[in-house]
Order: sequence, then C-alpha cells, then structure tokens
Amino acid sequence: MTIPLGMHYDTLVDKPCIVEDEQGVPVVGYFDLEGDAGKLLAAVQALQYGYADRSSGMMSQSKVLGYQPRIGMRRDYCHTAVMSRENPAEHDLLLEWAARVTKVYAATCPERFQKQMAQLDKVRPEWRIPNSAFTSGIVNKDNNLLYHYDAGNFSDVWSCMIVLQRDMHGGHLVVPRYGMAFAFPRPALIMFDGMRLLHGVFPMVAKSKLSYRYSIVYYALRQMCNCLSPQKEIERIRVLKTERELKRSKKE
Ligand SMILES: [Fe+2]
Repeated sequence: MTIPLGMHYDTLVDKPCIVEDEQGVPVVGYFDLEGDAGKLLAAVQALQYGYADRSSGMMSQSKVLGYQPRIGMRRDYCHTAVMSRENPAEHDLLLEWAARVTKVYAATCPERFQKQMAQLDKVRPEWRIPNSAFTSGIVNKDNNLLYHYDAGNFSDVWSCMIVLQRDMHGGHLVVPRYGMAFAFPRPALIMFDGMRLLHGVFPMVAKSKLSYRYSIVYYALRQMCNCLSPQKEIERIRVLKTERELKRSKKE
C-alpha cells in the first residue's frame, strides 16, 4: 500500500530556515534564491529533456550536467555530460550556479562543507565543477519523485537543490523524518544529505499552461574518484574496446 506523502508532515515551510537535529547540527538549509533566477529559468527551459525510467517505474524528464562516472559497458569511461555539447552556454551557466550555491553551503554548515571538500580532494580537478563542492548535477522537469534516498554520493555530504516553480499545486519536498514539507512559492535553494534523509516530491498538478517545476540538484559522486585524466580515460577505453572485440571475434 502506498501511503500518501501528505500523511508524513505537519509543518509546511515556505520561508527561509535552517533545521537542526537534536545536537544542534544543521540538517536542512532552506533559502530564497539570490541572483538572476530569470536567466537560470531560461537556461533550463532551453534544454532538451530525455525520458528516463526510474527505479520506481515512473517515466521522468531529466538532464544531467557536469561530470559522469563510468557507466556500464556502454559508457565505460568518465565523461562530461552531453549537455555541455548540446547546450554549452546553458551548461556553463548551470556550472556557475554550482559555485554560487556552494558559497551558501559553506556559510551554512562550515564543518560539513570542509569534510565534503576533503573527500572531493580524491577526485581529479578535471572532474570537479570549478569552485564548487560538487562533481555533477541533474535538472528535473515536472518530476513527481516518490520517496527515495539518493545513491552514489560521498558520505555525510549535502546536495544542493534549486527549485523554480510556477502555477503548480503541490511540488513540495517532503522530509518525513522531521515531519516537514518545503514549499517553493519563490525561487529557492534547499540543501540536505539526500543519502541519509528520505525525501520525495508531493504530487504536482499544473494550474495552467504556464505551469512548471524545475529542480536543479548538485551532488558529489563518490565514483568520480576512479576517473583518470580525460586523456587516460580515452586511452583506457580504447584498449578495453580492442580487447573486448578480440574476445568477441574469438568466440565467433
Ligand atoms: Fe533525491
């Protein structure tokens, strides 16, 4: 039985706040977004979204950015997200925003931030978003994400999420552990440990043809530690492909 997300919160937050745990350590930071949200909106609206089948079985629209680890046999090499070639200007802008939100993160939770940067030192600079605490990100368009934990990040780190929402019923981020849902009546920035805190998006319903909800999530992927220099990644995959083709031809 699926329990509606609405059953899991009694506090609806729509103003900036920092949620602390029992020890007084910040666990969620929620802020109004400072900066030119209009340009950012234009950038995410310009992207071509692919449909991906998430583990929940729901089809969702999203686009990754930044750097990606080796993924299966088909993309068995570290690489820069396709967005950097399809939409270079928009990709650059999204990387700039990663640096901006990092400043807010560093000021909100300096200890955690320092630990995150120390873990990121294991990743080569070519695979890190400049001046940021992240390697990668994703733009989600109108995605009703069910409850989930994020996967693949470094441990005890925060992801930072920008939300741009207009004319939508719902769409709040529900965090049942604290009985809270975060609404986004204005462009907002929210940050938390998505691997440790269960979270989901309250089902959204468009109010008009102009309705949208974009979320831009920045995160630090542990697997990026395995990436060699870009040149060495290319050399590695060339050798591997040759070996695999040789094996295949021997079988035939
Ligand atoms: Fe998530």
